[in-house]
Amino acid sequence: MTQRIKILPKHIAFIMDGNGRWATKRGLARYYGHKEGIKAVERTMLGCKNFGIEYCTFFAFSTENWRRGEDEINGIFELLRDYLNQNKDFFIKNQIKVNYIGVLDPFPEDLKSALLSIVDKTKNIEGLTVTFALNYGGRDDIIRAVNKLLQNNTKQTNEKDFLAILDTKDMPEPDFVVRTSGEQRISNFLLFQMAYSELYFPKIYWPSFNERQLEKCLLEYQKRNRRFGGVNK
Ligand code: IPE
Ligand code: IPE
Ligand code: MG
Repeated sequence: MTQRIKILPKHIAFIMDGNGRWATKRGLARYYGHKEGIKAVERTMLGCKNFGIEYCTFFAFSTENWRRGEDEINGIFELLRDYLNQNKDFFIKNQIKVNYIGVLDPFPEDLKSALLSIVDKTKNIEGLTVTFALNYGGRDDIIRAVNKLLQNNTKQTNEKDFLAILDTKDMPEPDFVVRTSGEQRISNFLLFQMAYSELYFPKIYWPSFNERQLEKCLLEYQKRNRRFGGVNK
């Protein structure tokens, strides 16, 4: 792998945007954009593995994506289910631990069981942890955490304890958040956890994302001067 990358983000998170536009531009139904999008996820997971990144998170379905048409939603679920069922060995072979954040309850049983089976099969793997954000919303994550505190009659909390009850409790906060497609917004992703993330908005649509694009993102990350409110030494 390239020698040019010296500082790696420990955790990189992707807001995978532009599947629909990728397809529309080619005269295809949006479904085919999602289909290609899954291939880009696979390329990106392997790329992260090659670069030695420890945590990689993909925003796959937001709490607001239920506003889309039923056909599109069902198409996304089927693609995800089939991908997970057909690639069980891929995660083992490449030593990728699979995790999820968000609330799975409203998803079809076959998708839930495909996902939970891979989460279980890969739970002891050390190396790259890939997390899929499914029916995930940053606000929902915070509200569910607050409700946990209320249920336990907790009178006071602090940042460290609060982070430990969010869906992302088992991973570090994202160092680097990349949103494809040129849109420059967060769309209710990891709101609390992104307080000091570096943000990057490459213009390409998600289905065109590949290892070369990942390298470009990582080169961009090198240039950032993370100060966390302090001053340069
Ligand atoms: C991202 O691509 C995939 C999901 C949100 C599930 P979009 O489907 O949002 O694609 P555009 O933004 O309409 O092009
Ligand atoms: C954000 O993309 C959500 C995911 C990538 C899953 P959207 O396409 O849903 O976001 P908006 O509607 O453009 O903000
Ligand atoms: Mg979009």
